[in-house]
Amino acid sequence: MGKKILKQIEETVEYLRKQYKHKPSVGIVLGSGLGSFVDHIEVEKEVAYADIPHFPVSTVEGHKGKLIFGKLSGKTVVAMAGRFHYYEGYGAQDVVYPIRVMKFLGIETLLLSNAAGGVNTSYQVGDIMIIRDHVSFFTPNPLIGKNTSEFGPRFPDMSEPYRKQLITKAKEIAAANGFEVKEGVYVAVTGPTFETRAEYKLIQVLGGDVVGMSTVQEAIVANHMGLKVFAASVVTDVGIRDAENIITHEEVLEAAKAAEPKLATLFRELAASL
Ligand code: HPA
Repeated sequence: MGKKILKQIEETVEYLRKQYKHKPSVGIVLGSGLGSFVDHIEVEKEVAYADIPHFPVSTVEGHKGKLIFGKLSGKTVVAMAGRFHYYEGYGAQDVVYPIRVMKFLGIETLLLSNAAGGVNTSYQVGDIMIIRDHVSFFTPNPLIGKNTSEFGPRFPDMSEPYRKQLITKAKEIAAANGFEVKEGVYVAVTGPTFETRAEYKLIQVLGGDVVGMSTVQEAIVANHMGLKVFAASVVTDVGIRDAENIITHEEVLEAAKAAEPKLATLFRELAASL
């Protein structure tokens, strides 16, 4: 199976290199409601997922499903407008396929973003949380199966899944731009149901600060391949609160959109600093 994936990635990369000849150094994944970040990129080429050999096709509302090539802060970047979620029915291997492709296109740094539910009671809707660490146990690990040594080792170290140096830099950027950022632990779940009250409480007990349905499988394969990873969550709802608490996808998208400028500042200035 490993060799088959490698061959597919080679074919995907060959196709993409024909579409866009420059080598990106930074990969970006835009989460739910954060697609407007693309406006900050000097777009040079867009490729619809549907046109890319071996790419899965994104379905969820709020995702455009395009790979975008261009410049951000003078760096050549490739951005995913729309990601693949396990809850859509894709296998873990499909969810991470584009991350592997971006690595083989040449990226060295991966910037991930997502909308997430606040579990830390000091968090508010609209907060940005830099992910310091994660809990992946509720979602299938994408490295299960025969290891493909061309990607990385059988037993990857995960002591620093999100680079400390990038976290420090992001905190400096936020301070210089006059906004607060949180820093905490992202607990990954499969979704698509939002959590019950009992589940939000459990996640809190486990040490989670936010909960979400993406990012961690991508971060795992990125670490496996030696990429430098930075990730940030936009807190779009606070599931842990006791008051009446119905969460809708619309509210998640709206809150993510409102917080997008802060995330954009972090990504733009982080890219500049690389
Ligand atoms: N739970 C899980 N995923 C989410 C949430 C949530 O409350 N909000 C946005 N994504």
